[in-house]
Amino acid sequence: MHLDVPRRILVLGGGGREHALAWRLAGEAGVEDVVCAPGSAGIATTPGVRCVAVDPMSPAAVAALATAEAVDLVVVGPEAPLGAGVADALEAAGVPVFGPGREAARLETSKAFCHDVAEAAGVRMARAAAFCGGEDEVALAFIRELAADGTGIVLKADGLAAGKGVIVTESTAMALEYAPSFLAGRPSDQPALVIEERLTGPEASVIAVCDGERATALPAARDHKRLCDDDRGPNTGGMGAYSPLPDLDDAAVAAIVERFHTPILAEMRRRGLPFRGFLYAGLMLTPDGPVLLEVNVRCGDPETQVILPRVAVPLAPLLLAAARRSLPAETPAVLPATAGAAVGIVLAAHGYPQSPKRGDPIVGVDAAVAQGALVFHAGTVARPGAAGGWGTSGGRVLAVVGRGANLAQARGAAERAADTIHWDGVHRRRDIALQVPAQAEVSP
Ligand code: AMP
Ligand code: GLY
Repeated sequence: MHLDVPRRILVLGGGGREHALAWRLAGEAGVEDVVCAPGSAGIATTPGVRCVAVDPMSPAAVAALATAEAVDLVVVGPEAPLGAGVADALEAAGVPVFGPGREAARLETSKAFCHDVAEAAGVRMARAAAFCGGEDEVALAFIRELAADGTGIVLKADGLAAGKGVIVTESTAMALEYAPSFLAGRPSDQPALVIEERLTGPEASVIAVCDGERATALPAARDHKRLCDDDRGPNTGGMGAYSPLPDLDDAAVAAIVERFHTPILAEMRRRGLPFRGFLYAGLMLTPDGPVLLEVNVRCGDPETQVILPRVAVPLAPLLLAAARRSLPAETPAVLPATAGAAVGIVLAAHGYPQSPKRGDPIVGVDAAVAQGALVFHAGTVARPGAAGGWGTSGGRVLAVVGRGANLAQARGAAERAADTIHWDGVHRRRDIALQVPAQAEVSP
């Protein structure tokens, strides 16, 4: 399978996921230059990566940058620039872009749209209904209807909430109490709240590289969404991740691609919205088989930080082929992965996710790297001259990735490296990849 290698690549974004993307792409054979906009001081420490202060939310500025830098490919990291139409502007400027246009990005930006597409595609999601501002009474009635069937309730804000707009309620009373707050002050012609049946089971993130028609899955990963050990505390953007999933082998991942990604791609094409980019299926592996909880139109964070070190084939040529709508027919359903494992631990600032504290000096990053860990920067600022060289400037500050022959070894490496990094009030989970579920049954 011969694929063109993009020599010059622009990565949009500046978080931990983009650090991992830039690191991975810059390290591949034939890639000569990776520009990251806006990137960060942490990302700029990566060999072969330059950061430029261009706003990724401005379609015109991004198109101008891509043209001026004569890049062969743009890879969009976060969802917000996609929702702002950056991919549409790049396409209009004739620049190959890996990431969907604004309308296709609604798969993530609107949970109601996602449910609609999934239903039309015959893809299984949780039972759900969407409600607009002013529809409090019908929303409460739907909660009572689900409760009468013995079903728990999940409340989700429609629209982008960076993984934090979801309440998995503990009781019907709690659902009835919180639902109106999602609708208060919201317009009556737009869904503001999605109410879903509460499912149970381990979760899995299966992210595929898509060219509009074909999908090829990256190694599967599992995120740890709750803030505290034993899955307690509020949902966050993700506190750690690991790959591979011993409970989801390649055959199961291939079956998931066939049952979730491929039908969604077909339905999006039918709607005139061909999807090119990372299609992220957030799944719950229920006792009755996998159910789609959410679609993201980008890579996961922190999943990317553990997935990319495990991809055993060059990624840049695949992303370029997908951007050109031409993944070869012989592309496998699941990309080859390294035999080893990767475990990523997120180090978060005190007060995350509600009100993260900024400005604390960080020590120990160099020592973690010297141990062989990968340290991806998310919310840091450079503090030249200060001990340690870095300060906190965001909620999720760093992701520390350990690698090893198996999950236990990778976990040990990640824990040891995370132990070397410190600042006042640093918060992390101690149970990332500690308990791994048994093999799930996923029949095609
Ligand atoms: P989402 O942003 O839709 O992925 O939701 C964030 C997290 O909330 C998921 O990763 C799950 O942990 C949890 N969650 C979402 N939907 C459900 C559901 N229907 N049942 C149980 N938990 C859910
Ligand atoms: N880690 C979950 C996400 O990126 O949405």
